[in-house]
Amino acid sequence: MIKVITYGTFDLLHEGHYRLLQRAKALGDYLIVGVTTEKYDMERGKLNVVDSLMTRIENVKKTGFVDEVIIEETSGQKISDVQKYHVDIFTVGSDWAGVFDYMTDYCKVVYLERTKNISSTMLREKNRRIQKIGVIGTGRIAERFMPEAKLVSGISTQGVYNPHLESGRAFAQKWEIASYAEIESFYEDVDAVYVASPHQTHYDYIMEALAHGKHVLCEKPMVLKRQQAEDVYAYAKAHQLILFEGIKTAYCPGFEKLLGIACSGTIGQIRYIDACFTKLEGKDKRELTDKKYGGSFTELGSYCLLPIIKLFGTDYNDIHFDTIQDENGLDVFTRASLTFPRGIATAVCGLGVKSEGRLLIAGTKGYIVAEAPWWKTTYFEVHYENPGQVEKYSERFLGDGLRYEIKDFLNMMNGNDKSAFKLTRSESIAAADIMEKFMEYENRI
Ligand code: CTP
Repeated sequence: MIKVITYGTFDLLHEGHYRLLQRAKALGDYLIVGVTTEKYDMERGKLNVVDSLMTRIENVKKTGFVDEVIIEETSGQKISDVQKYHVDIFTVGSDWAGVFDYMTDYCKVVYLERTKNISSTMLREKNRRIQKIGVIGTGRIAERFMPEAKLVSGISTQGVYNPHLESGRAFAQKWEIASYAEIESFYEDVDAVYVASPHQTHYDYIMEALAHGKHVLCEKPMVLKRQQAEDVYAYAKAHQLILFEGIKTAYCPGFEKLLGIACSGTIGQIRYIDACFTKLEGKDKRELTDKKYGGSFTELGSYCLLPIIKLFGTDYNDIHFDTIQDENGLDVFTRASLTFPRGIATAVCGLGVKSEGRLLIAGTKGYIVAEAPWWKTTYFEVHYENPGQVEKYSERFLGDGLRYEIKDFLNMMNGNDKSAFKLTRSESIAAADIMEKFMEYENRI
């Protein structure tokens, strides 16, 4: 009996898949199909798969060509599958020609002609109108957003608005998008807005964009006052618009995994969280020259508060700040200390003092530690009383990581709210509340 194996995502099963499976089966007597998990697809940069794993398996089975379905979970799996299932022929479409030649050490490799003019990507884009997003602001984070947004299928960056027209034009030219001198025409051309302007301008832009019926993805800190956060979320909800605070850590797979382990009881009850993020910046940078809105806490506090709010909740009993200030009176190092009914936490941020930048979550049975840059979570460890007992976890974090929040934002715009739990409205409002307390402590508002 000749055994054949093939692999794929098989999202929105189409004629190309059908013909591939038909010809794969004809190569032998028994066809095994490896269908990718969502997690594996995410890891290899396929971010917008529509059908669930179960649906994709069902669809593959319904073709009638398949004798056995297996799950493909990791990149190194194919060689062991071929040996485990005593496979004679490995086959995939010609778009992969050459890529799997290394498998010839284990079995015969056949590349089947790919069916022209059809793909899951084409169907995804046909079924859903491309959402056009406009960027407000042209600073460093907007520069990072552009290449990341290109990787999320279903969204297209339409143009940029910056009241400093020259900066807007230069940015537009670099990224080959439109530049708008009038904000009204900017809003007319987009479905959603990415707010990447200085912190203090966020509230007005969010309100204005929502009033124009646009969804909003806003850089962190979204706003610096609790009431403002409540206002923008209430307005968005009342008008059925999506409003996302872009704390990228909240949307990346490694951080989701870390929170899952922390909440699973593995380390017992969580009693202490220490989140630290420091970055030495040039003195000429906005965060060290803007005397009212700059400083380490407004710049980095959102990251450090995230695990604290996610794990201890939004209702703290008490908060106080200790800061070291520079000659301009800006905080170059800040420690926010919070007490909660269930434990205590510190959020430590530095722009002029360098520290280890670690996330530590201590519980009654053990602790989790993630070293810098834990805010781009790729690796963390779980330790116990016995120093020899250490569990290690790793996860991929691709590029600058904005692609994860952009993908979730897009899904929400398209009516899929499965990502809303990653950063809830009340968590985002709690972060704004803490920012406000900090600004009051600093006598800045
Ligand atoms: N395939 C094919 N002809 C097509 C599309 C896909 O023969 N028009 C083959 C691929 O070469 C692969 C298998 O079908 O062997 C599964 O491919 P998959 O990546 O799931 O499908 P695509 O349509 O290429 O998906 P996407 O657009 O998301 O990359």
